[in-house]
Amino acid sequence: MTTFVVKFEPSNVELPCEGDSTLLDTALTAGFFPKHSCRRGECRACETRILSGEVRYGSDVAPDGLKRDHCLTCLAIPVTDVVLDSPEVSSVPGRRIVKAGARVTAVDRVSEDVTVVRVQIPVNTGFTFEAGQYVDVVLRDGTRRSYSMANSPAEEGQIEWHIRAMPGGRFSQHVYQNLKPKDLLRIEGPYGSFVLSDADAPLIFLASGTGYAPIAAMMREHRDRIAARGATFYWGARREKDLYAMEEVNAWAKSASGLMFVPVLSDPDENWDGRTGFVHEAVQKDYPDLSRLEVYACGNPLMIDAARHAFRTECGLPEDRFLSDSFVTAPGK
Ligand SMILES: Cc1cc2nc3c(=O)[nH]c(=O)nc-3n(C[C@H](O)[C@H](O)[C@H](O)COP(=O)(O)OP(=O)(O)OC[C@H]3O[C@@H](n4cnc5c(N)ncnc54)[C@H](O)[C@@H]3O)c2cc1C
Ligand code: FES
Repeated sequence: MTTFVVKFEPSNVELPCEGDSTLLDTALTAGFFPKHSCRRGECRACETRILSGEVRYGSDVAPDGLKRDHCLTCLAIPVTDVVLDSPEVSSVPGRRIVKAGARVTAVDRVSEDVTVVRVQIPVNTGFTFEAGQYVDVVLRDGTRRSYSMANSPAEEGQIEWHIRAMPGGRFSQHVYQNLKPKDLLRIEGPYGSFVLSDADAPLIFLASGTGYAPIAAMMREHRDRIAARGATFYWGARREKDLYAMEEVNAWAKSASGLMFVPVLSDPDENWDGRTGFVHEAVQKDYPDLSRLEVYACGNPLMIDAARHAFRTECGLPEDRFLSDSFVTAPGK
């Protein structure tokens, strides 16, 4: 089997990459977390500059629209030794990916289409995560669905998910209609690099629907750090009843000065007197200049793409200050 070396700069981490392993899988397996989200070529969160070396893609076709000298690490397979510009990769490995059986402990419908699910993972598996990360649920046929943890990692062995029932969705409809306490699920993780940075820039959190889940984890885990930086959370939905955790978010906003909450509805009924329209446009209206802020956006891929584009081109947000987890779905998976 051919082995090439993949090196991450500036941390100088060097890893052997064997056979058809992608650059991202090589790093994750060794406990390193380069930037990524969907892990299947759809969200572009893993687009990374190649400082030297060459890669190929499993399909032999490079993804469309890549910037010059860049690759998608979740798809790229080295054909020479490769050096990557990955300032987010630390010099020591972090947590390992764990495969485990998880026992459902609670299933609560909290709105017309959102279920809050809690599961327990045996503590002896060593499973831990960072606020903002997600795990894969591995289905019987081996396909996977990803769900972000909404709880604080301090709750050892516990996971809380917010799962929206998608029309025609195989797993999310099963969750909404049939999942019950004591059921067993196979999970694998944690994955994802949507975690709070060490910067001190003021924060904008932006979510649509269950995109609130990883932001809830950050709010629960890092409340004081977030309050010290100053943060506004914009949460978008169609109708008021879709904002399934209003009480909790209002309490969060009142819990410290420097925290604000702006709900935004795209299809409100007539007695709604709050903000309306597209959620990212509400941010732009309040912050026409985002050059000194950091944005965390999560949820619907269309919302995320629109926000990324508008914030960069119209509001001066530096590229590396837009962090996102796009809830891409794979039709027919
Ligand atoms: C990093 C990440 C984190 C995520 N976190 C969350 C989270 O916290 N909460 C959450 O609710 N979701 C989250 N998601 C989305 C989640 O992983 C699933 O994609 C989602 O729940 C749908 O899964 P499903 O099995 O119900 O739908 P699927 O069966 O995979 O179908 C997806 C959609 O495609 C349509 N479809 C299916 N088959 C076809 C076909 N043949 N032709 C056309 N259309 C078709 C379905 O109707 C449905 O609308 C996340 C995704 C990612 C990538
Ligand atoms: S495109 Fe690579 S992680 Fe989404």
